[in-house]
Amino acid sequence: MSEIKKSEKHYLTGKEVREIAKANQKEMRRLEKAKKRKIPQSEYTTEMKDEKNILEVENLHSYFFTDQGVVKAVNGVTFNIPANSTVGVVGESGCGKSVTSMSIMRLLQGPSGQIVDGSIRFKVSDFKRDEKGRFIPVYEKDENGDVIFENVLDSKGAPKLDKEGNPIVKPKQLLDANGIGVFEQEETVFDIAKMPIKEMYRLRGRQMAMVFQEPMTSLNPVFTIGNQLDEVTLLHVPGATNEFAKKRSIEMLNLVGIAMPERVYASFPHELSGGMRQRVMIAMALAGEPRLIIADEPTTALDVTIQAQILDLFNDLKNKINSSILLITHDLGVIAEMADYVVVMYAGRIIEQGTASEIFHNPCHPYTQGLQKSKPTMKSSGEKLFNIPGNVPNPVNMPNNCYFKERCSKCEGKCSGEYPAMVQVSPTHFVACHLYDNKED
Ligand SMILES: Nc1ncnc2c1ncn2[C@@H]1O[C@H](COP(=O)(O)OP(=O)(O)O)[C@@H](O)[C@H]1O
Ligand code: SF4
Ligand SMILES: [Mg+2]
Repeated sequence: MSEIKKSEKHYLTGKEVREIAKANQKEMRRLEKAKKRKIPQSEYTTEMKDEKNILEVENLHSYFFTDQGVVKAVNGVTFNIPANSTVGVVGESGCGKSVTSMSIMRLLQGPSGQIVDGSIRFKVSDFKRDEKGRFIPVYEKDENGDVIFENVLDSKGAPKLDKEGNPIVKPKQLLDANGIGVFEQEETVFDIAKMPIKEMYRLRGRQMAMVFQEPMTSLNPVFTIGNQLDEVTLLHVPGATNEFAKKRSIEMLNLVGIAMPERVYASFPHELSGGMRQRVMIAMALAGEPRLIIADEPTTALDVTIQAQILDLFNDLKNKINSSILLITHDLGVIAEMADYVVVMYAGRIIEQGTASEIFHNPCHPYTQGLQKSKPTMKSSGEKLFNIPGNVPNPVNMPNNCYFKERCSKCEGKCSGEYPAMVQVSPTHFVACHLYDNKED
């Protein structure tokens, strides 16, 4: 990273741009190389700090290397997602919500977009493998705990015999309710930030899935919905047959509240309405039974009635399946309905976090208080909404003091000093603002 003079000018000379580009190239090459490096699993296997969590993001830094300088889109973000909970991330457009979620999925667009520092610990429940990389079957046992053996059959269904004429036997694999063979599973914690990019294919879809804002960009227009849904099952359930995949796809479409699942199963994406497509996207995200669903503005493109239905659906599903949701939105109202915990982001950093009740009933940070005031309610509809005046600082040249200072009505002397540290105001509530500094002493 080249040091740019922190003058007040708003342009860069040709020489400065060339210097930045050269420094960026070097850094991007190094990070791209690291992504492709083959390293043993032990190098990215770790432990959770708190066993209750399924995801722990710690000090995450994700940058974009541009010719204008380094955009610190995510600049030291730390938060947890406990098992079976919904965590909401809220903040104005451009504050780094999507870059945070793309970092967790490792979908940042390289070479310019890179995770440069931090950890993303994720608890995975994956199939165990033997030394040759094969899944290990679970065998059926009798009442004494001994493995049950069964005859090996030939193509006509008759028992195969060995040279002496005795039937050949093999241990009998346990079958689930659908007749699909069961394999051994184990829990592992991976640091996603350190994982070779190729290994991420093991996690996406089955361990974590993403619902995007615009479903048309993530559904393939030339395949039917059924085709695309079946594929998720076929990919993630070892031994799944086509019939089983179809049965499961229809079940998923049912689960997301589609009234005529068979018809939707046979449809192409363009034949469905926006709300339907979003439901299909959610069904696809669920098909791998992921532990974590990341929903990035899942209802922004939809009209208000459909929005409410989709949110209800998420609430419902969280209770039905054993997963957690990371819900990203600029709309505090959506978060109020859905989240257990709330993370408030501003200019690439977390400025406040707490339980939903703490953030709504006792918002501490002046920015959160402003967001709260600008939240549309039934009462305020028709009135002009409150807007927090002012601008976010230039992302390639952030000041050393509080990033909200230029817009803050509560600013005091200390605010021109260092960037405020995170202060704990309750066991679960944290805020980064100088107004609360003394509360810690
Ligand atoms: N490809 C990119 N190149 C440069 N900057 C980017 C790129 N994508 C996002 N950014 C910057 O990263 C910051 C965070 O963006 P984003 O996470 O998309 O915001 P949001 O909170 O609206 O989802 C913004 O300042 C944005 O301009
Ligand atoms: S630290 Fe100061 S400027 Fe920043 S939000 Fe708090 S009061 Fe406002
Ligand atoms: Mg976004």
